[in-house]
Amino acid sequence: MKLLVTGGTGYIGTHTCVELLDQGHQVVVIDNLSNSKLGALERVATITNKKLGDGQNLIDDLIFHRTDIRDRIALQEIFQSHNIDAVIHFAGLKAVGESVHKPLEYYANNVTGTIILLEEMARANLSTIIFSSTATVYGDPETVPILESFPTGGITNPYARSKLIIEEILKDLHKADPSWKICLLRYFNPVGAHPSGLIGEDPSGIPNNLMPYISQVALGKLEKLKIFGNDYATRDGTGVRDYIHVVDLVKGHLAALDYLHTKKSILSIFNLGTGRGSSVYEMVRAFEQASGKPIPYEVVERRVGDVAEYWASTEYAERVLGWKAQYNLQTMCEDTWRWQQKNIENKKML
Ligand code: NAD
Ligand code: UD1
Repeated sequence: MKLLVTGGTGYIGTHTCVELLDQGHQVVVIDNLSNSKLGALERVATITNKKLGDGQNLIDDLIFHRTDIRDRIALQEIFQSHNIDAVIHFAGLKAVGESVHKPLEYYANNVTGTIILLEEMARANLSTIIFSSTATVYGDPETVPILESFPTGGITNPYARSKLIIEEILKDLHKADPSWKICLLRYFNPVGAHPSGLIGEDPSGIPNNLMPYISQVALGKLEKLKIFGNDYATRDGTGVRDYIHVVDLVKGHLAALDYLHTKKSILSIFNLGTGRGSSVYEMVRAFEQASGKPIPYEVVERRVGDVAEYWASTEYAERVLGWKAQYNLQTMCEDTWRWQQKNIENKKML
């Protein structure tokens, strides 16, 4: 198949490109490079032993276009020149805190961008799309594990709301025109990196999320971890989350792609998680073990908007997609650590 991957130079996008290319698919990436660098895609080419093309040669397996998803003309040209079979839509802004201060930017980029992408797909008679949603759409669930049938809502920030709005738009679109084939994938907490250590998550500034923060403490770039509360009603008082290795997450996309391929009309929603929750203390210990470095920490106030525990029911994805996450916390930490160390070395060489 030939896939259009929006946001394909980002963290999850690059790992997806590797897997798609390894499976023999052709990939056209569009990204405006607002939160990533072209170098990441060059590493994808290295890992997969492919040439990175600029679109001049349409038969290249991996092609990059620096394009914003809101640029209709560019999308039209891409859909005209490539025979795209399906779109995997990662492009979007994702920083929760920033979205509170810049709501219009988030809605314009994520919601308007997706609408334009869908309009141009329709114009090109292309109706298969996989959308990156988030488990945050469940708000503060009454019980765990979280099933896909749980209500959505109770959202506290524009980022998460932009994802829920897009989910609703896609549902309306499918109702109006059942020829669409759509998967909404609700990610739990993607972490880890490709085992080569060549690609991974590289947040700019001080990380907001736990795993990148811990790894920068292990590297000595940050002094200590601030644990946001140890008085939650969880097994050790710290927040519990469902961390999933990015390579497992990506394999969920390939399973979804196969599933859509067998259907004439479908809108399906799947959780992508492991079905296991880990606490902040457990994450600290696992990372200390993987890196051999101490992770100093202090316990501070709870973070506003945080919930106590959150993990996925994976039963539906296992049954329908035949997909199940394989990697454990140890591998997630080891792969993150390998990537962090190599990335530092590579940056020194630049
Ligand atoms: P990322 O920021 O690394 O990748 C997103 C990519 O999209 C970036 O390369 C960015 O430059 C590009 N982009 C943003 N706006 C664009 C636009 N208008 N046009 C073209 N390109 C644009 O993020 P990621 O972690 O790889 O996440 C991918 C998707 O998964 C996002 O939609 C995100 O909201 C969603 N998601 C991520 C997580 C997570 O923890 N990483 C969790 C849930 C959902
Ligand atoms: C956060 C986002 C969520 C997003 C997800 C992406 C918020 C409120 N939620 O969720 O919208 O989809 O990331 O993966 O930002 N923690 C610390 N110290 C830190 C960082 C985190 O103790 O410096 C704790 C948190 O309180 C939480 C756990 O670690 O219990 C995981 O935090 P994080 O990685 O930010 O993920 P989420 O809270 O699940």
